[in-house]
Amino acid sequence: MGSLRIMMAPKFQLLALLAFAVAMLFLENQIHQLEESRGKLERAIARLELRDIEERRTQEGVRESREDVENDVVVIYNRVPKTASTSFTNLAYDLCSRNHYHVLHINTSKNNPVMSLQDQVRFVKNVTMWKEMKPALYHGHVSFLDFSRFGMMKKPIYINIVRDPIERLVSYYYFLRFGDDYRPGLKRRKQGDKKTFDECVAAGGSDCAPEKLWLQIPFFCGHYSECWNIGSRWALEQAKYNLINEYLLVGVTEELEDFVMMLEAALPRFFRGATELYRTGKKSHLRKTSEKKPPTKESIARLQQSAIWKLENEFYEFVLEQFQFVRAHGVREKDGELYLLPQNFFYEKIYPKTT
Ligand SMILES: *[C@@H]1O[C@H](CO)[C@@H](O)[C@H](O)[C@H]1NC(C)=O
Ligand SMILES: *[C@@H]1O[C@H](CO)[C@@H](O)[C@H](O)[C@H]1NC(C)=O
Repeated sequence: MGSLRIMMAPKFQLLALLAFAVAMLFLENQIHQLEESRGKLERAIARLELRDIEERRTQEGVRESREDVENDVVVIYNRVPKTASTSFTNLAYDLCSRNHYHVLHINTSKNNPVMSLQDQVRFVKNVTMWKEMKPALYHGHVSFLDFSRFGMMKKPIYINIVRDPIERLVSYYYFLRFGDDYRPGLKRRKQGDKKTFDECVAAGGSDCAPEKLWLQIPFFCGHYSECWNIGSRWALEQAKYNLINEYLLVGVTEELEDFVMMLEAALPRFFRGATELYRTGKKSHLRKTSEKKPPTKESIARLQQSAIWKLENEFYEFVLEQFQFVRAHGVREKDGELYLLPQNFFYEKIYPKTT
């Protein structure tokens, strides 16, 4: 045995060594491959985790920015006196807690619709930067103000209501004399004057003069000298231009309910529930001027002869037509009731494909 081992040994040992070396090389290779796979696996897991985190982050980001955009909104309702504006403003006040926004009245001294230049700057800056109030609805008897003239990137959303110019004037005439059911105790400027609107027209009084019709045009035209130049055609054109380019929606007193409905559709962030509230609480939201007597045909005909009425009426009809156009494209009628149309557009042919 011993001699056999001695004899076989060198050959066997060499073979064994060789086999061992091959085995080692093989094993090492396997380990190396295993390590490589493990590395790949780890990297893949890390990538997946990262993607997960990033996905969550972008989703949160989208949510945040969507909310930011929804809340960073200012609505300005630069109401014209005696256009049923109080009724509408009361709706905004009734909804503000429920819909989470602020309502602020802009009280200009003596209800002057034109602000000083320094007040314009103060107002524009304050409204734009006052984060704690946003989203906010500001209302007041102020003529249109273009925020972009003050270097502001973000403009407010303007809304408004207009009324037949003669009816508005008649309402204002009696309001000055008799007040309304809203603040019945308050003493009005012309209190005690019992003269009717017709008597005023017949006598050529100043409170019923055609010049007093010049109000809706300058309110939409704005803070420019020419706007307040009574009878200016340029002012009328500027008012139309602003109506189209600067106002989201302008309704008419005569169709206030439809205005509320369209506004709820366009600005649900503020007016969700407004139509329902308006319909059920019609009485409480209407403010009536006391002792109002409708004018005679003669008084109306006399006012209609003036060039001022013609311009103001052209603006009123322009607004009315635009409002009816918006409404016609937004609703359908069924059994005498109006219903808002659902979304009527969708996206397709979206490329590149994501799969
Ligand atoms: C505006 O402020 C003045 C002065 O404080 C006040 O007398 C007036 O009643 C206010 N106007 C309205 C409409 O509240
Ligand atoms: C805006 O004006 C109000 C009232 O004067 C003031 O309390 C508020 O701090 C102002 N906000 C900003 C951002 O200037």
